[in-house]
Amino acid sequence: MAGGRDVNQQSQIGPGRDLHVAFIMDGNGRWAKARRRPRPFGHQAGAKRAREVVEACPDLGVKYVTLYAFSTENWKRSKPEIIALMALFRHYIRKTMHELHAEGARVRFIGDRAPLDRKLVALIQELEALTARNDRVHVTVALNYGGRDEILRATRKMAQAVIAGQLRPEDIGEDTMTHYLDTAGLPDPDLVVRTSGEARTSNFLTWQSAYAEYEFTDTLWPDFGRAEFAAVLDKFGLRERRFGGVTG
Ligand code: FPP
Repeated sequence: MAGGRDVNQQSQIGPGRDLHVAFIMDGNGRWAKARRRPRPFGHQAGAKRAREVVEACPDLGVKYVTLYAFSTENWKRSKPEIIALMALFRHYIRKTMHELHAEGARVRFIGDRAPLDRKLVALIQELEALTARNDRVHVTVALNYGGRDEILRATRKMAQAVIAGQLRPEDIGEDTMTHYLDTAGLPDPDLVVRTSGEARTSNFLTWQSAYAEYEFTDTLWPDFGRAEFAAVLDKFGLRERRFGGVTG
């Protein structure tokens, strides 16, 4: 069971399988503190790492990457930190929109957009529309996302569909739930990586991760790079070299 995967599971992986790796990007605050800098400095460094991880995906055989950027619980943080994070999201979307499109990335956001700033929502919609037809790498950003909140919102939508006569309760199965979740159309993650030594799943992809492998690394997110990404995939027997995605 090297790397926690048995032989039967190993036979399902390898060339042709479109891997989905999801990241809980933790440790930005501690990284900044160690440098005697404010927490947003750590988030800026974290955003650069997120960009590098996305760029590395096609070469590592990862077709789907999901990043936990802001949870439904993160509103409990200080107001200045929340403002800095929201400004960082807007800045990064503007800065990277066209290069992500040029790289063939399809970008989607999951989570509840209702409480988000209107300018941020407009940028999210612009980025999603710009990249909607891309297929080289699928990037999903979880923003104001919580697994339980996602399941509750999906359940409400299903209840409304039942009332409207579009759905029969006896027809509700796993595939129905999958269809109503924010992640509709995305495969379940194969591997969830959490940095910074915390071994919790923190309400991330609660429904979707039922069969995922988990890797908890002590590295703080701003120190997590391409080499460790490749090493983690190797540990689980998941790496497939695609030479920049041109063959896949
Ligand atoms: C957790 O570290 C990190 C966050 C809540 C924010 C994640 C955001 C980024 C990495 C930057 C932006 C990403 C995109 C996609 C543009 P923490 O603050 O909890 O660290 P700590 O546990 O050391 O305090």
